[in-house]
Amino acid sequence: MNLKSQILLTVVCLFSLVCLIDCHKKCDNCNQYSWEKVKQKGSMPPLAWDGSSAYDERNELFYVFGGLNGSYPNDETINSFYVFNVKTSSWTNLMAPSSITPRAETMMFLDKRGDYVYLSGGRGPFRRGINIVYNSTQRYDVRKKVWTELNQTPFQQNLANRSVEAETVSRTGKSYTFSGSTSTLPGFIRVPGALKTDTIVFDSVNGWQQVDVVGASPTPRAHHHLLYNEELNSIFTYGGYTNCSTYTSNECNYLGDLWSLDLSTKVWKQHLFDVTKGPGNRDNAKFIYADQNQLFLIGGSNYQYTNFMDVWRFDLIANEWTQLTILPLVDPETNIQTPIPNTIGSFYFKHIKKCSVEFYFSRGSLSEISGSPLVDNMYKLTIPI
Ligand SMILES: *[C@@H]1O[C@H](CO)[C@@H](O)[C@H](O)[C@H]1NC(C)=O
Ligand SMILES: *[C@@H]1O[C@H](CO)[C@@H](O)[C@H](O)[C@H]1NC(C)=O
Ligand SMILES: *[C@@H]1O[C@H](CO)[C@@H](O)[C@H](O)[C@H]1NC(C)=O
Ligand SMILES: *[C@@H]1O[C@H](CO)[C@@H](O)[C@H](O)[C@H]1NC(C)=O
Repeated sequence: MNLKSQILLTVVCLFSLVCLIDCHKKCDNCNQYSWEKVKQKGSMPPLAWDGSSAYDERNELFYVFGGLNGSYPNDETINSFYVFNVKTSSWTNLMAPSSITPRAETMMFLDKRGDYVYLSGGRGPFRRGINIVYNSTQRYDVRKKVWTELNQTPFQQNLANRSVEAETVSRTGKSYTFSGSTSTLPGFIRVPGALKTDTIVFDSVNGWQQVDVVGASPTPRAHHHLLYNEELNSIFTYGGYTNCSTYTSNECNYLGDLWSLDLSTKVWKQHLFDVTKGPGNRDNAKFIYADQNQLFLIGGSNYQYTNFMDVWRFDLIANEWTQLTILPLVDPETNIQTPIPNTIGSFYFKHIKKCSVEFYFSRGSLSEISGSPLVDNMYKLTIPI
């Protein structure tokens, strides 16, 4: 064999080796939808639900803040602040020296590089006859481990005054939200002005600003989730809780519509589908992943306070929903199948891998009504993409 063919052979071998490793990796977790229980180490956060969470994808760090530590009438807002390191599967208590106001359903988001964690708005417990919604915005410096309250104009305080989630756009580091509630009074949803109608954006230089959307927005709502779809440069939202009736659990308060805001054109678009074949009216459902062809949705709760942990795929081209079958969780120690708890208000994040997406959730409540036990385990759902 001459030198030339030796080099050629080496190159071919190296190439096949890389392909072998790569292809093996692909087949490893690409062919099945499955649940796993995640081992949690370190200093565990207290049990809570309706807290806030934000994921630093680059550093694989998952931050959680606050929530409610029980069910009515023994539910109090807490201000615990922890981080979960996905690489080491371990929790660290970050409670910084300067204390932050205990809150639930706070907008929590990170800057593009994971240097700062932001908290904005949020609320106190419902059903106390008092209105406790916050309008401040705080920033946590990850390296210095200190909280700073940001200066906001009264207009910006008014924008921050809401209880909702915010979603960060990976490309720009800007965080968006739509609507949300400004009241914790009984029948809060029908208090005039209790639901915001605007779309707002936060960036580290300008703080909160209103987005000038073109055309109609979705109906105002609370307890809805937002997901950035990078391929479509759009923010998606599904369902939520609206102000159709003063009777809290009236079915008409629960929505089952799908919308996306195109960040280039600022147009909100409704994705219409056959509602009899979709997940139905629910709030608190979460998206797992979205690309230009599809999106995945999990869980939520309906007007009968039933919580779900079902998984759905929406075909963005055919506009059709399909419910997915997930392999049940098998406890690796006992080999026994264990059901996934149907929680509400869990901390959650999604971790995008080469050919799959992992949806993690931890904590939360088995019901939003009295005496419901809180969950302390962490679970991971793998979806091939
Ligand atoms: C819930 O939080 C309140 C206020 O922070 C505290 O007094 C109470 O002990 C906590 N309850 C539980 C069960 O941790
Ligand atoms: C939030 O907005 C509501 C409705 O406009 C208002 O009643 C309430 O005082 C505001 N709260 C704060 C903390 O700004
Ligand atoms: C923001 O909240 C503070 C404290 O509750 C209140 O004094 C202030 O008026 C609120 N700002 C606006 C614009 O409502
Ligand atoms: C629902 O809330 C929106 C926004 O605050 C308001 O414009 C609308 O009048 C409310 N509808 C009802 C029926 O209260």
